[in-house]
Amino acid sequence: MALRQIRIAGDPVLGKTCREVKEVTPKIKQLIDDMVETMYEANGVGLAAPQVGILKRIVTIDVGEGPIVMINPKILESAGSQTGEEGCLSLPGKSGVVTRPNYVKARAFDENMQEYEIEGNELLARAICHELDHLDGHMYMELVEGELHDANYEEE
Ligand code: NI
Repeated sequence: MALRQIRIAGDPVLGKTCREVKEVTPKIKQLIDDMVETMYEANGVGLAAPQVGILKRIVTIDVGEGPIVMINPKILESAGSQTGEEGCLSLPGKSGVVTRPNYVKARAFDENMQEYEIEGNELLARAICHELDHLDGHMYMELVEGELHDANYEEE
């Protein structure tokens, strides 16, 4: 495994739409391993492949319950809302208030290309929404209510 360099807001790669993954090749497996390591090293809750410069529909998330790998993820259902602080590893040291669904159900493939469904509430729901937005070139700053401010807490 190896750490990858995290791209910072303003890098054009963060504004692009990612492509679906057709199969998990050894190179993709290496990317996933590196993303998990990079996410942990940066104390992040989640990381999307474009944040390490790769335009593929892959995200990794860990809200404290172990790593989740989502390939070609899609949100199936969402409900409720939560309003709270959000940050991003691609905008270090900043955060802002964002409203997200409080519950989401999503479908994705794991690192063995096995399809699965996942339900998440609160932070996991927020993280899934945040990371999936990255795959379509969107960042949370587009959704911030009020001003971005200096912060030091979990970043996605
Ligand atoms: Ni992010």
